[in-house]
Amino acid sequence: MNIELYLTAVPFGKTNLENKTVVVIDVLRFCTSTCAALTAGARGVIPTAGPGEAGEMWTKLGRDMAVLAGERGGIKIENFQLGNSPAEFTTESVGGKFVVMTTTNGTAVFGKTNNAGLIGCCALVNNSQVASRVAEINRDLVIVCSGREGGFSLEDTICGGMLIHRLSVEHGKEIALNDAGSLALLLYQTNRTAIRQVIQQGEHGRYLVNLGFSEDIEIAAGIDTMPVFPVLKEGRLVPEGDPNSS
Ligand code: MLT
Repeated sequence: MNIELYLTAVPFGKTNLENKTVVVIDVLRFCTSTCAALTAGARGVIPTAGPGEAGEMWTKLGRDMAVLAGERGGIKIENFQLGNSPAEFTTESVGGKFVVMTTTNGTAVFGKTNNAGLIGCCALVNNSQVASRVAEINRDLVIVCSGREGGFSLEDTICGGMLIHRLSVEHGKEIALNDAGSLALLLYQTNRTAIRQVIQQGEHGRYLVNLGFSEDIEIAAGIDTMPVFPVLKEGRLVPEGDPNSS
C-alpha cells in the first residue's frame, strides 16, 4: 500500500486522488467533534467553508432539522448554537439532527477532496476504526493533516503516524511511505506513551488551554474512545455503513 502523508493541507489540491482512500485528520478539534456528534446520534455533520455558507445550509435544511456549530479563533461564532468542543455534541444537542459546521482549518479541507475513492475523518478517538476500514479497503492512501492556519501541527502528525503504524504492524500491510509519512511514523514511535503530553505541548494545545478548553484536549487524547468512521457522502460526514445515512 502506498501511503502519502501531507503535513498540511496546502499541496493537497495538486494531488491525484482517483481510486485512493483519503483520510483527513484534525485532532484539535474538528474530527474529534465530528466523531462525538455522530456518536451522540447526529444524522450527519456537514462541513462548510465559512459562516455564510453554514447559515445558508442551515436555512436550506430547515432550522428544526439542523444545528449550527463552529468556531473562529477557537471561540464559538456569534449566533451559532454550538462551538467546536467535543463535549458540546450530546444526544440532547444534536441527536437526530444534522450538524452544519465551519471551523478555521478542518472543514475547508473536505471541499478539496472531490475525485477520491473514499473520504474519511480521523482523530485519535477513532484511529483504530479508521485503520481497520482502510486496511479492508486496501487502496493507496492519502493522509491529510489539517494542521493549523496553513502550518504543521504535532497532534495531527502523531495521529497520522499512529494510523500508519497500525496499518503496518496490526494489519500487516506492506507500506511504502513518502518522507512526511516516515516522519509521522517516527514521531509516533518515539512518543507513543506520551501522546497526551505531545498534544498539550503543541501550539494549538497550548492555545486551547489558554482559552479554558483543557477538557477538549483530554477528550481528544482519548485513544479509540469513539469507534465510528465518518465518511463523506453527498457533502455530509456520516458513519460508514449506516443504512440510514443516504
Ligand atoms: C479547526 O478545524 O480549525 C479546528 O477544529 C480549530 C479548533 O476549533 O480548535
